[in-house]
Amino acid sequence: MENKQDSWEYLLQGEKIKSKHKNAITITKANGINYIDNEGNSYLDMKSGLFNVSLGHCNTELADAAYKQTVSLDFVPNIEGFNNATTVKLAKTLVELAVEEGLTSTASVYFTNGGSEAVELAYAMALKYFELKGMKSKKKIIALHNSYHGATFIPASLNTYNNSYGWQRIQKSRHEMFMHADVPHENYIEQAVMRIGESVGAAAARLLEEMIVKEGPENIAMFIVEPIQGNGCVVLPHDDYFPLVREICNKYKILFVADEIMTFAKTGAWFAMSHCQTDGFPDMITIAKSLGAGVAPIAALLISSDIKATCFDNISHPWMPDITTAGNPVCCAVALKVIEIIQREKYLTKSVSMGHTFMEILRRTLQGLPIIKEIRGKGLLAGIDFNTNIAKEVEKKLLHEEKVIVKGNSSEHTITLCMPFVATEEDMNRTAQALHKVLSSFKHAFA
Ligand SMILES: Cc1ncc(COP(=O)(O)O)c(C=O)c1O
Repeated sequence: MENKQDSWEYLLQGEKIKSKHKNAITITKANGINYIDNEGNSYLDMKSGLFNVSLGHCNTELADAAYKQTVSLDFVPNIEGFNNATTVKLAKTLVELAVEEGLTSTASVYFTNGGSEAVELAYAMALKYFELKGMKSKKKIIALHNSYHGATFIPASLNTYNNSYGWQRIQKSRHEMFMHADVPHENYIEQAVMRIGESVGAAAARLLEEMIVKEGPENIAMFIVEPIQGNGCVVLPHDDYFPLVREICNKYKILFVADEIMTFAKTGAWFAMSHCQTDGFPDMITIAKSLGAGVAPIAALLISSDIKATCFDNISHPWMPDITTAGNPVCCAVALKVIEIIQREKYLTKSVSMGHTFMEILRRTLQGLPIIKEIRGKGLLAGIDFNTNIAKEVEKKLLHEEKVIVKGNSSEHTITLCMPFVATEEDMNRTAQALHKVLSSFKHAFA
């Protein structure tokens, strides 16, 4: 691997990095919040891998958990009449965590290897549910503008940025199967559509209802939403939005799917949806990323008791997709250890104060830079919205000049940061100072 060109020859993902940044960086080691490259440079990983390495890199407890499981029971299919204690234990634990946080309708779990697969499965589950309920025309999906739901066919069809795959690729235009509702945030909703005296959350919910009525509720299967848009730059919805949306989904018999792939265990709670405190919802939840902490490829779809009863109970041959490695015991052992560590170290509570500290540091350090439109965050997640499309430049300069890693988003005017639980105040200060230096170097920073 000495010659970087060699790595580009064989690894296609490396090719993508090369064309974007010219110099692909070969990482040889990682520890805590740091990466080390093959030239000995150290990088501050304020993206936590890809928003998944929440415990910090190279946690030896996770290595032990994976090792112990591998040498006692490495693999057994979770289909065809088999299961195993580790996978069952993780499923039970996840349901209990959801119920404890007030998401009381959560009943059971279906594991997948990654987030995109879990979103695909949510849609497949919705189709099955309505078929069994005798509502076969319900097929369309509504997502929000500015959202990201994954890279395989159904999620890619829902994304509003980087649409090189999905329905739009085949049809050359967005298919009416996939619709997009307004984002419940003042920076993203068009002011012209708001009524006098109406809150942003209420306006976004009203517009969603109008869309449903226009399309015909009999055609709509599910509404999928990130409780906090992650790739879209930590867009926090207004408090009144989700309770109104739950009512709308109930009224029109539409399944409410919370995509918590990004937010799981990052916002001071296991589930960001629990901050809404509306008993019983959602109908389905997808989780991934922090669940496997970057070590185990694991994701899950959590379904409600109503969906479980309809699709699985008293059905002699319930529909079940067979995914070979989904829910394999080694990944589940790692995920159980992740949950144990987060509980033992009280990381969820700690992440609330970490988030407040980081917001305070960012706002104080970056104040007076008019290039910044808004700084937002919750728990481990932070987002900066710029007045111009400099996100990719900022990402590159931070990486190459300051050795700080953040994510420049597809929207091009926002960056998203995600610190691991092990980040210190010093790491936060270093990030804010690096950002200040990079942003000040833009000619129009003070314009
Ligand atoms: C909200 C959300 N949904 C789905 C996905 C897709 O997950 P994966 O990359 O594991 O397929 C992501 C990944 O960033 C995500 O942030």
